[in-house]
Amino acid sequence: MEKQLEELQRTFLEDLESIRDPEQVEQARIAYLGRKGRLTTILRQMGSLSPEERPRIGALANSIKAKMEQALAEVSARIASRQSVQGIDVTLPGRVLRRGSVHVINQVMAEIEDIFRDLGFQVASGPEVEDDYHNFEALNIPENHPARDMQDTFYFGPGVLLRTHTSPVQIRVMESQGLPVRIIAPGKVYRCDFDITHSPMFHQVEGLWVEEGITFAHLKGVLYEFAHRCFGPEVPLRFRSSFFPFTEPSAEVDMGCIICRGAGCRVCGNTGWLEILGCGMVDPEVYRFVGIDPHVVTGFAFGMGVERIAMIKYGIDDIRLFYDGDLRFLLQFA
Ligand code: FA5
Ligand code: MG
Repeated sequence: MEKQLEELQRTFLEDLESIRDPEQVEQARIAYLGRKGRLTTILRQMGSLSPEERPRIGALANSIKAKMEQALAEVSARIASRQSVQGIDVTLPGRVLRRGSVHVINQVMAEIEDIFRDLGFQVASGPEVEDDYHNFEALNIPENHPARDMQDTFYFGPGVLLRTHTSPVQIRVMESQGLPVRIIAPGKVYRCDFDITHSPMFHQVEGLWVEEGITFAHLKGVLYEFAHRCFGPEVPLRFRSSFFPFTEPSAEVDMGCIICRGAGCRVCGNTGWLEILGCGMVDPEVYRFVGIDPHVVTGFAFGMGVERIAMIKYGIDDIRLFYDGDLRFLLQFA
């Protein structure tokens, strides 16, 4: 009988291998454990055993029965979990959801904002769809002024346009806020421009500080502090005199190329310098438009190109890479 039980266990394990669905589980249960099943049939012979053998064989038979029941329950559970969602193989590996990340330009903007917030500037904003008055006229750029040519403008119709710079926010803030003013205004701007250093949509951060006693020295101090915090204490700045209708005197600021350290490379066009912003002392004509008395206060303003700063920071030699949406490029900043 012991042999029969062992043989039974062996064939049971073999049969178990081929079980694929709940119906086969049930068939195996009936075949082995049912009232007319093979185990039951063997146990019927218990009566022929000697009284000494009976307890030992009985215990063996019980343990085999328990093992078989457990094995059937396990197979049953495995089949159920595989079929729990009908028609879907839930054992297939899941689809990996890839996490997005903040775009490199937004990262750089946040960094610029943090630096100026530390320096006591508040963050202001204005509309991207602007009117001619705020984008040009109040900035001392009258109609037919040649300076309107400096910025090729996208117009919606007469007097309504996509702002070509963040400078209109200067006007809006001075119109609506009392003195002193110490703000930055980050945002998108638009121009008909497209090459390796110009994009039709790009970002600027405007700065404006108007208060009694502000001089060009304050402007230089703030911009040096910004450059050193953003690029490290070694980076040189160069103020080139320039012209903007809304500042007098005006300057453009170049930064020493941190890729080649001034030796000349692709990023800086072999000059060793990169233009990052325009700036100057607010022109008294501008104060006239917003009702501020230029005899009482003075101020400075600047407008920096965020893409240019990101290009220098990361050694990127084509501005269009920012907006191609190529993950191989973008993931480097994730
Ligand atoms: C202006 O837009 C002035 N509003 C700046 C200003 C503000 C001067 C306040 C004085 C006082 P400009 O056109 O030079 O100036 O642009 C400023 C910066 O924007 C440039 O130095 C450059 O870094 C960036 N920039 C200009 N055009 C583009 C473009 N198409 N794509 C990317 N960056 C650009
Ligand atoms: Mg310029």
